[in-house]
Formats: sequence, structure tokens, C-alpha cells
Amino acid sequence: MSERELIAAALLARESSYSPYSGFCVGAALLAQSGRVYTGCNIENAAYTPTVCAERTAFFKAVSEGERGFVAIAVVGSPAGNVTQLAWPCGVCRQVMMEFCDPQRFTVIVAKSEEEYEKRTLADLLPEGFGPDNLA
Ligand code: THU
Repeated sequence: MSERELIAAALLARESSYSPYSGFCVGAALLAQSGRVYTGCNIENAAYTPTVCAERTAFFKAVSEGERGFVAIAVVGSPAGNVTQLAWPCGVCRQVMMEFCDPQRFTVIVAKSEEEYEKRTLADLLPEGFGPDNLA
């Protein structure tokens, strides 16, 4: 699974975004250590707070299927239409990643297209993060 393929899966997932309130459409594609890819989109709610981000949709799908180890996630987010910006994961999603990923190794790819993207480790995005090791 190449970075380009993972971004393509995130772009496709973004088409399912349910975002009638913000109009901000996000898609994610999460590569598990098993080799399987789990996609997600943001799902909003009329009561607002139940809204879930695309990244967490992908993680919760994967974890609920038994996955526990992850390699990378691709994220694409922008107002409806063409992707015009790099939308980095929110703090809550970074914390969910911290639960299941090695921060030094897990790669977050944020893309505008299959050609235009940036990537960081989770450690870059959540320095000195609190995770399962703290409770060991
Ligand atoms: N959103 C995501 O899906 N991922 C993020 O990391 C940031 C925000 C969604 C939530 C909401 O539906 C919309 O983008 C605007 O905040």
C-alpha cells in the first residue's frame, strides 16, 4: 500500500462525509499492520456534540474489527468541493491515535491530492503525549 493509494482511499471516503452543518468534508484511510485499510468520514449531528471526526471513524471501525496495530493514516479535509487546504487532525483524534500507535513510528499523511501532501509522525503532532505506557 503506497502513500498515494492511501490518499486515494481517503479522497474516496471523503465523498461519504455527512457534514450538513459545517459543510467541511473530511475523509481518512487508516493502514493497519495487518495490511488492511479502514476508511472513515466525519459524521455530524443536529445536536452538534455527537459529531465524530473522519479519523476516529476509521480508528473505531478498525479497532472494532479486532485491529490493534497501525502504520499510517491519510487525511483529506476541506469545505465541500475540491480539497483546497491541508487539514491536520484535531487534538481529540491525535489522542485516540496515541492509544493505539507508536508515536515515533506512526505516520500521519495530510493531503490535498495524491501528489500534494505532507507527513509527520504522531510524536511530531502530539509531543510528550499521554498514553497507555503512562499507566503501566
Ligand atoms: N473534522 C474531522 O473530521 N477531523 C478533524 O481532525 C477535524 C475536524 C470534522 C468535524 C466536523 O464535522 C468538521 O470537520 C468541522 O469541524
